[in-house]
Amino acid sequence: MKAILWTKYGPPDVLQLGEVEKPAPKDNEVLIKIIATTVTAGDCETRSLDFPIFLSLALRMWIGFRKPKENTIPGTELAGVIEATGKDVKNFKIGDPVFGAAGMAFGTNAEYICLSEDTGETGNAVAIKPKNMSFEEAATVPFGGRDALHFLRLANLQGGEKMLINGAGGSIGVFAVQLAKYFGAEVTAVDSGEKLDMLREIGADHVVDYTQEDFTKGEQVYDIIFDIIGKISFSKSNKVLKKNGTYLLANPMSQIIRGLWTKMTSGRKVIMQTASGTTENLIFLRELIEAGKLKTVIDRSYLLEEIVAAHEYVETGRKKGNLVITVGHDRKV
Ligand SMILES: NC(=O)c1ccc[n+]([C@@H]2O[C@H](COP(=O)([O-])OP(=O)(O)OC[C@H]3O[C@@H](n4cnc5c(N)ncnc54)[C@H](OP(=O)(O)O)[C@@H]3O)[C@@H](O)[C@H]2O)c1
Repeated sequence: MKAILWTKYGPPDVLQLGEVEKPAPKDNEVLIKIIATTVTAGDCETRSLDFPIFLSLALRMWIGFRKPKENTIPGTELAGVIEATGKDVKNFKIGDPVFGAAGMAFGTNAEYICLSEDTGETGNAVAIKPKNMSFEEAATVPFGGRDALHFLRLANLQGGEKMLINGAGGSIGVFAVQLAKYFGAEVTAVDSGEKLDMLREIGADHVVDYTQEDFTKGEQVYDIIFDIIGKISFSKSNKVLKKNGTYLLANPMSQIIRGLWTKMTSGRKVIMQTASGTTENLIFLRELIEAGKLKTVIDRSYLLEEIVAAHEYVETGRKKGNLVITVGHDRKV
């Protein structure tokens, strides 16, 4: 089968289209013919391992010290069709349209993947695709949607809270804005100017262009600040977070020391975590999508063989919402 080969860490052009053996499902696995997958900021970060040294070392211990070891195909989310099932699989049959995540096992930038039908420690998940989404749209939900839901559940929204979401225009943010609205919050979305119309369209009550305005100098005080991008200064933003307010940090690596310090000294709740994705969360998102309460935002679509250009675009930071990769099985390359 065709797959993107990730054989070393580095810039986008370390990725190449190649041929690998088509996988066969184990007893508890489904074989999925992938129709659409994505490239996220997380994929670019993992590909390059351009992190502070302690984090780079930790990830190298997981993925491979000098080069990716077992997981040599990138990509974490997909939508496609079940092509075969292992003998113990109960929830799926051949031909089912599905969406899902490989999580930290990677491997979705390819024509096929085998995934266990039960969620494991890598955060994998498979569920029937939302009826009212195309494969391209559905492929963008498992990563950003599940991560946003993970953090919003930790915020325990009761309705009426004022919530600020920083980095709202990306893969996690576009779902976080809509889910926060669904759970009853009044949402202020912060991102760069060209993303603000889109953020209003998906329901943000207020928008702030961070390149023009510093929200930490404003009058508004928030119950919850969800910093997706990890670039807020705690000392400044403490002024606009209520005394008993909550910080949610999706990118704790950039702020771990200051996060712990803020937690110890300010009485505010600081939640820094790696999101864990479950199949139940994927099904919850599907139900919201089918009820018309949640949609995705797609900026651009690339072909599998255009993976280098796709990574280059994601690295510009200009991506609005999500970037999709379509997998044309019969396409001649
Ligand atoms: N904790 C976890 O489990 C977990 C899971 C997945 C991902 N992550 C991390 O979460 C981060 C975000 O992921 P994502 O996929 O949503 O990224 P993304 O799609 O690139 O979105 C990030 C958004 O932040 C905006 N931004 C950049 N600098 C900003 C600033 N100073 N203030 C406000 N907004 C700013 C970017 O727009 P502009 O560039 O136009 O400004 C972009 O729209 C990544 O670093 C990823 O590694 C954490």
